[in-house]
Amino acid sequence: MDEKTDANLFYGSQMIVLYIFALIQFSLSYIILLRQIKINRTVKIILTLLFLIISFKNPLLLIFGGNILAPQLPGWVVVGASSAQFCLMVVLCLGILSEIFYLFFKIACKYRVSNSHRVCVLCLDTLFAVVITCIGTYNAGLPPENIFYTFTDPKYPDNFRIVHITDTHIGTNTSPERIRNLVKQINDLHPDLIVHTGDIIDGRYEAIAPQVDELRGLKARYGVYAVNGNHEYYSDAASWNDVWGKLNIRMINNSNVTITDDSGKRLLFLAGISDPQALRVNPPEQGPDYVAATEGFDRSLPMVMLSHRPKEFPNCVTAGADITLSGHTHGGMVPGLKQLVALLNGGYVSGYYEHQGKKMILNNGTILWAGFYIRINDPAQVVVIDLKNR
Ligand SMILES: [Fe+2]
Repeated sequence: MDEKTDANLFYGSQMIVLYIFALIQFSLSYIILLRQIKINRTVKIILTLLFLIISFKNPLLLIFGGNILAPQLPGWVVVGASSAQFCLMVVLCLGILSEIFYLFFKIACKYRVSNSHRVCVLCLDTLFAVVITCIGTYNAGLPPENIFYTFTDPKYPDNFRIVHITDTHIGTNTSPERIRNLVKQINDLHPDLIVHTGDIIDGRYEAIAPQVDELRGLKARYGVYAVNGNHEYYSDAASWNDVWGKLNIRMINNSNVTITDDSGKRLLFLAGISDPQALRVNPPEQGPDYVAATEGFDRSLPMVMLSHRPKEFPNCVTAGADITLSGHTHGGMVPGLKQLVALLNGGYVSGYYEHQGKKMILNNGTILWAGFYIRINDPAQVVVIDLKNR
């Protein structure tokens, strides 16, 4: 198998942006948080080096792990690095807010903030950021909640249960036991159909085989189906094709399947599209192709469409989808960031949406990517959809 490294994903101007972003983060952190305070020189040097290492997290992961999105490093290193960067970002945001207040006091009240005041505020900001980071990292490790929806329509199959998971991001930080517990949680729901809307894995199969192989335990009456997310393409999607077959997971990227019961009665039309990143980072893989995805669609059947990105929802509706299932946003994860994630994803970030009377469920993600391993108030989910026809 060819190893997929970030040399394939980040190149030329993108590599420069990576280093510029790190340099900006370090410069801002130093100027806002450290430059103006008077503390022991050794402590200041240690903090400066710490800020430098944290700010250059991504270039360092690239150098030592060969890949930013799925570094070949122990899971605790990747999660630790992402938590440290989040913590620094929180301290920096609080530091910027503090500077605005200091400026206000200076102009409005002619009050110059003392050094001890600055040090005290920085310590409190750091304490707050560490607590928030610990809570967020702890939440990210919690098992997913089961979220139930019931939809009724005369053309739906009756008492038909779909279990929808997404963004499991199985990587070096994911233990086989975690996936075994997830498989049990899903099987205990007695699904008729299990669907996964992508970002199943991060990295090469050889590095994460024990945890990925646990997916073979998934059991559903009509099978397990999935589409690729952007992270499959970052992980050389084609190299995974044989693996999915061995795990009894059928990929329906730009294709479909008609679910049929034992008597031959057709129950629903399940279609899937690939991720738009396919062509950019993993040619000759193809981006979403709605014509191929809906080929042979019988309009008397309900259509369930799998799309990793919620932004595709209006296109899925145009293609005929009654219910679109999606992921990618991880629910937004952090207040403030959630609004930005929504902005970048067509306004969609978490939960239930409608467009022209058609439905979309946007799952918060069933686990989480190690590269941003924080959840403040958007818990991981297993979505359970019960279809009824009366
Ligand atoms: Fe994801």
